[in-house]
Amino acid sequence: MKTTYYLGLFFMLLFINCHENIPKPIYPAIIPAPASQTVKNGLFSLDNNVSLKVDDRFKEVGNYLKKYVSKNFNISFTEANDKQIVFNYNNQIENEEGYTLNVTQTMITIEAKSARGAFYAVQSLIQLMPLETKASQVSIQCVEIADAPQFRYRGMHLDVGRHFFPVDFIKEYIDMIALLKMNTFHWHLTEDQGWRIEIKKYPKLQEISAFRDGTLIGHYSDKPERYDNKRYGGYYTQEEVKEVVAYATERQVTIIPEIEMPGHSQAVLAAYPEFGCTGNKVEVVKKWGVFEDIYCPKEETFKFLEDVIDEVVELFPSKYIHIGGDEAPKKQWKESKFCQDFIKKNGLKDEHELQSYFIQRMEKYINSKGRQIIGWDEILEGGLAPNATVMSWRGTKGAIEAAKEHHDVILTPGSHCYFDHYQSKNKSEPLAIGGFLPLEKVYSFNPIPEELTEEEAKYVLGAQGNIWTEYIPTTEQLEYMAYPRMMALSEVVWSKSENKNFDDFKQRLLHFMKRLDHLDVNYANHLFELSGHIETQNDQTTYTLKSETEGKSIRYTTDGTDPTISSTLYKKPIVIEKDTQLKAASFDEKGRVSNILDQQIYKHKAIGKKLSLSALPNEKFNAGGKITLNNGILGSDKRHRDQEWLGFREDTLKLTYDLEKVTDISSISARFHNGQYQWIYAPNEIWVSFDDGKPEKVEVPNSKEWVVNFKTTFNGIKAQKITISIPNYGIIKPGKRGAGNLSWLFLDEIIIN
Ligand code: ACM
Repeated sequence: MKTTYYLGLFFMLLFINCHENIPKPIYPAIIPAPASQTVKNGLFSLDNNVSLKVDDRFKEVGNYLKKYVSKNFNISFTEANDKQIVFNYNNQIENEEGYTLNVTQTMITIEAKSARGAFYAVQSLIQLMPLETKASQVSIQCVEIADAPQFRYRGMHLDVGRHFFPVDFIKEYIDMIALLKMNTFHWHLTEDQGWRIEIKKYPKLQEISAFRDGTLIGHYSDKPERYDNKRYGGYYTQEEVKEVVAYATERQVTIIPEIEMPGHSQAVLAAYPEFGCTGNKVEVVKKWGVFEDIYCPKEETFKFLEDVIDEVVELFPSKYIHIGGDEAPKKQWKESKFCQDFIKKNGLKDEHELQSYFIQRMEKYINSKGRQIIGWDEILEGGLAPNATVMSWRGTKGAIEAAKEHHDVILTPGSHCYFDHYQSKNKSEPLAIGGFLPLEKVYSFNPIPEELTEEEAKYVLGAQGNIWTEYIPTTEQLEYMAYPRMMALSEVVWSKSENKNFDDFKQRLLHFMKRLDHLDVNYANHLFELSGHIETQNDQTTYTLKSETEGKSIRYTTDGTDPTISSTLYKKPIVIEKDTQLKAASFDEKGRVSNILDQQIYKHKAIGKKLSLSALPNEKFNAGGKITLNNGILGSDKRHRDQEWLGFREDTLKLTYDLEKVTDISSISARFHNGQYQWIYAPNEIWVSFDDGKPEKVEVPNSKEWVVNFKTTFNGIKAQKITISIPNYGIIKPGKRGAGNLSWLFLDEIIIN
């Protein structure tokens, strides 16, 4: 943010803040950071002596401001000309969505060339206003802002198929999109687990497809599967959809509806099996994943989808209709005589070309309605529909390919834009699908892939945050996953790279969080969360703690109790002399301001000692390149993709420890992960040898638990060198997932005592 501060003003504000009768000014801490902002001397007092003058073109935006002021404060506008808020049309403003906002002591001037620009000026103005409710006077910092977005497409997605969220919440979500100057809400309305939009011509979508007979409990990789057996569902009536669209329009937010095809359509096939390939009766899906039931490219299926589109385009004025296109398994198409004949008759090469045919046919229909399609990046497979915009979610490959083919693209890569992923490694985080996407990583995202030339980069419309809701059953949890990552993304898509600074963003976010508190939003706050790392040097093991954001004190305990404001103050790395349960948190003068970091550290004889491996872990499961098998820290008990578990795919993995001197050895313990769904199997045995002795076999308990604990004890062993060989479980047996393939070996720590 280009901000000019007046030092004198700063001290003056400090001074007047001490004076009780003078209202506190608000430090300009706008999110997303404006392109340029100059803080000026003085305050504008918004009270009953202010008139509002609005260019006709911005009438609705003026009304929005009027409503905001009357709802939040005890202030109404007057006809007098003492002080003014003026909205002017200015076609000199370069960016369609740009604006200027100039606050002086007597006048607030907003200039824009579109209602959207004027609306964003109002959003900045709102962020300059204090939060007190029912005040009859509020002070606004004098400031000069000239602002415009970096990207045209600034979106947030929401999956209402896996879990359904009420209209009032959808409106609050749109409010947040608008406050952050994002302009698109991608409403993911149809899923295997539920159809959520009323389509009058097909009543069974409401009666059958909108409800399921239960929901999976826990993670989809948990075995055995458990269900709550409770009927679950709902849908938005067309009246409700109209209400939401009008609400969004008033906030300059475009809603792009998504109607999934040809996959993710099992809920429809539960009601209308005739649109599928098998004709089999299926149910609305109760668990998570990708399912084989898929639309069959029959005339009656296209007729159905066209009828649906007819009703959808009547409800949504957006230029784009999202047709999904992702994760469409081709098995049923391969097995269906109809599909195979269809492929031959239409000169198609394979099922991918059939998918492309399907999408292109629907594109033609949607284009005939004056609309354009967006599809997930799978629509590239088998040939891209001529006018399609691609939403790149499987990394940026799809975006690069599409932009090189001169198609518009929107970036939503899982690596930076999937807000259903974990945002913290703290054990207290709610269950999520997996992944790890902390705030800083969202903030660091650059939607323009490096591989694109400047010319190709012009096809990048922008980026979008996606919230899939398999593991998000409530609005509270949804808020927790969405915020503040959405704030970080708003800056990614709005602010120019040179104005982005994560430390500065965090300070503004702290300020913004007061607004979220005021709105009673259940946002996640990991700003003062602690992380730690272990280090061993010269036989001394220490644990270093670090706060995500500076400025608070860190306190800790080692007796298993939760740290409090009177616990030991952390000053330097903690020396670990024995097995230790370390609990630490950040504190300000009032109390704890972070989650508790709870870290068990196992002090054993091999910590930090030389360890050679016969093979490196696979790069997908290598804890970011560290060998974590002798750092005293175990992996997660829930997730194998963390910073401790290492994944190997060798016939035999051999580990050799050099303890540097002859040492008494009484036990070796290890942990292996069993994740048979992901082809991960604990080994059957390990072989241990000391110095140059003969290897001895030790069996690993035969267990199906997620973590298999292994321990073997010894008597009277003295050795410097320990060699542990772990033969892979082997080729996965028929009937199991991954049958015929070599299994994976996962281990997190080998404890030698
Ligand atoms: C997706 O995440 N299946 C688009």
